[in-house]
Amino acid sequence: MRTAQPAWGSCGTSAGGSFLLLLLSLGWALPSRAQAADSRLGVRTPWLQGTSRVLSWWRPEPPVILSRDRRDTDSKVCPPTRKAYVIDENLVFYEDWELEACVDGALLAAQMDRVNAVPFTYQQLDVFKRKLDEFYPQGYPESLTQNLSYFFLELSPADIRKWNVTSLETVKSLLQVSKGQKRDAQATPRRLRGLLPQVAALIARYVAGGGELDQATLDVLATFSPAYLCFLSPEQLRSVRHSVLWAARPPDLDACRPPQMAILYPRARAAFQTVSGPEYFAKIKPYLGGAPTEDLRALSSQKVNMDVATFKTLRTESVLPLTVAEVQHLLGPNLAGLKAEQERSPVRDWIVRQRQEDLDSLGVGLHGGLPNGYLVMDLRLREALSGGARLVGSGTVLTAAPTLLLALIPK
Ligand SMILES: *[C@@H]1O[C@H](CO)[C@@H](O)[C@H](O)[C@H]1NC(C)=O
Ligand SMILES: *[C@@H]1O[C@H](CO)[C@@H](O)[C@H](O)[C@H]1NC(C)=O
Repeated sequence: MRTAQPAWGSCGTSAGGSFLLLLLSLGWALPSRAQAADSRLGVRTPWLQGTSRVLSWWRPEPPVILSRDRRDTDSKVCPPTRKAYVIDENLVFYEDWELEACVDGALLAAQMDRVNAVPFTYQQLDVFKRKLDEFYPQGYPESLTQNLSYFFLELSPADIRKWNVTSLETVKSLLQVSKGQKRDAQATPRRLRGLLPQVAALIARYVAGGGELDQATLDVLATFSPAYLCFLSPEQLRSVRHSVLWAARPPDLDACRPPQMAILYPRARAAFQTVSGPEYFAKIKPYLGGAPTEDLRALSSQKVNMDVATFKTLRTESVLPLTVAEVQHLLGPNLAGLKAEQERSPVRDWIVRQRQEDLDSLGVGLHGGLPNGYLVMDLRLREALSGGARLVGSGTVLTAAPTLLLALIPK
């Protein structure tokens, strides 16, 4: 019974699966744990499938504490002969309540390598996690996180968000643990495995602490999913390989901020210069939040039929200079969808700068444009008139009627 857990990642799914079946038939692994085990073996489980969007990493987390266990194990006292001073195979035969009562968090932290080497059941690992969490209520110290190895996969993103991660070595070792079936990923490069939420949280902590990822780490991350892109600083994004840009799909970039999109867009444009037409548009679409006005104009002239969801991701200052006809050609049959967005940025900001009669000519019921007879005037004057109301963009803007000007002249 010295099957070390690290070997699981390297053995095939069927072998790992039969070990699981064995544990299940022995009553050692809970079904919920078997599911977590699947994720170790590289199979995407339902709760992981919901996590391809960056923001959802912050939501679903596997239930860790089983209240039934607590009731059974809480108030029991460790029988003196059962007290654990070392983590070894004998503990595999302990009841959960005995583990709870006889193993303490300090011992687990000090002998994490043994925790990983002994084939404990997932239910037993749950008990260990609970003991460690009680011992470190503020989060695990870095001396422990760097030695976690496979135990890392027992943790939730919420646990990891309590950590300080300052060492690239820690990131690398935990990435290695999470990597799983890299061979499969290479065999099917278009369908890369999803980024484990734990890994996403880990990278987020490291980058938030000012950590820099090296090229080797970026390459390992790329074998998971491009969804980590939004965790990188603009400087780091400059060294991301073209293959990563090719692999990104729209949800992968949902969490990126404007400075990140400003770097990613020109890099993606360069990466995709070998394709054109609809294929180019399909690839560049997730990156358009970084596109300047002139590129949107070019897409408009190609009649790409942009969907409204993509239009909403465009930079307001890139959208504002577009004419009514340009927006019409950009969206094509999707134009009617603007109506539902007319109260929100960037559609609203664009509408208030168009003549209402031009908007009317679109025939989709957009309101809020400028009535006939309004003037084009300098933005600074407009701001002065509106008491400093903030407007995005610069240059000229269609604005107030002469009567308003007259009303504002001091008497
Ligand atoms: C982590 O592992 C290193 C070497 O493997 C060891 O020297 C160190 O004491 C371990 N730290 C903890 C907290 O167990
Ligand atoms: C993280 O670092 C802060 C500031 O140094 C410290 O107060 C906190 O206890 C650390 N947290 C952990 C889990 O080590």
